[in-house]
Amino acid sequence: VRTIGVLTSGGDAPAMNAATRAVVRVGLERGLNVKGIRKGYNGLLNEDIIDLTSRHTADSISRGGTILFTARCDEFKTPEGQKRGAEVCREQGIDGLVVIGGDGSFQGAQRLAELGINTIGIPGTIDLDIACTEYTIGFDTAVNTAMEAIDKIRDTSTSHERCSIVEVMGRGAGYIALWCGMATGAEDILIPESFDGNMPKLEQQIIEHLLRNRALGKTHHMIINAEGVGHSYGMAKRIEAATGIETRATILGHMQRGGSPTAKDRVYASMMGAYAVDLLCAGKSNRIVGYQNGKFMDIDMDEGLAMEKHVDDYQLQIAHLLGK
Ligand code: F6P
Repeated sequence: VRTIGVLTSGGDAPAMNAATRAVVRVGLERGLNVKGIRKGYNGLLNEDIIDLTSRHTADSISRGGTILFTARCDEFKTPEGQKRGAEVCREQGIDGLVVIGGDGSFQGAQRLAELGINTIGIPGTIDLDIACTEYTIGFDTAVNTAMEAIDKIRDTSTSHERCSIVEVMGRGAGYIALWCGMATGAEDILIPESFDGNMPKLEQQIIEHLLRNRALGKTHHMIINAEGVGHSYGMAKRIEAATGIETRATILGHMQRGGSPTAKDRVYASMMGAYAVDLLCAGKSNRIVGYQNGKFMDIDMDEGLAMEKHVDDYQLQIAHLLGK
């Protein structure tokens, strides 16, 4: 491998910059040319590609967002788009590509690997929804950001003796909700993984829980709701109507994707960036860098993408028990 490319793709995540920085600096240190592909796979198709030096990544480790920009790219989901992507890599002399993103971005990398470009995936998503790794870049920061916001909401909720619903990100995965719920001592945690779609039943359970707690003298009731369950505003109205207890909903939204990354995210993302470059130097391709059982590791991309992730039942059980 002589020249490697790096891109960030899909939803951004805090500490993607730390991973990019490590790819650039370790790549240069290993004697490689490093090219930055801007705006994800869109930038590959449009040849929005720049030569990177250490200077480009200066002051980036503490910054949220991604200096390479990111995008979701529908064209790259088509065989024609993928073929074009591989051609651009060849034209640009890119013989190794590091893709920082989630499952969808890895599928693009998998296709490029089939077309002869050495690719390595680094898990970058606040959702923690990648099965082959226990850690994804940005999750720790997102959880801390949401936790701080929830603590603040709880202050005012207690003053007014209200019930609060805070909706956190996670369309298909409840990890942010579960962690925030546990970290803030929430009374109810609603996650898509354990929601059967029956909203009236779920709301009835919450109403009974809320009334039980009020009877016991609890002055607030915090509900952490994952985006995948949703309907927070409607839920608040119906809970208030059924209980007579003032209820407010807050949707935290994209604030969870930004901000300066935590130390854990900076360090793990840096390690993963370095690891990806060293895999390419060792001639590896079609692999995902992960973290399992206390160690950075790598796994075949096809195998990794075929795995299914499940919320830890014991953690969920304890989170519910502690919020009772
Ligand atoms: O995948 C990360 C994520 O933040 C999800 O939790 C959320 O559902 C989605 O991205 C939002 O995407 P967008 O930025 O396109 O609104």
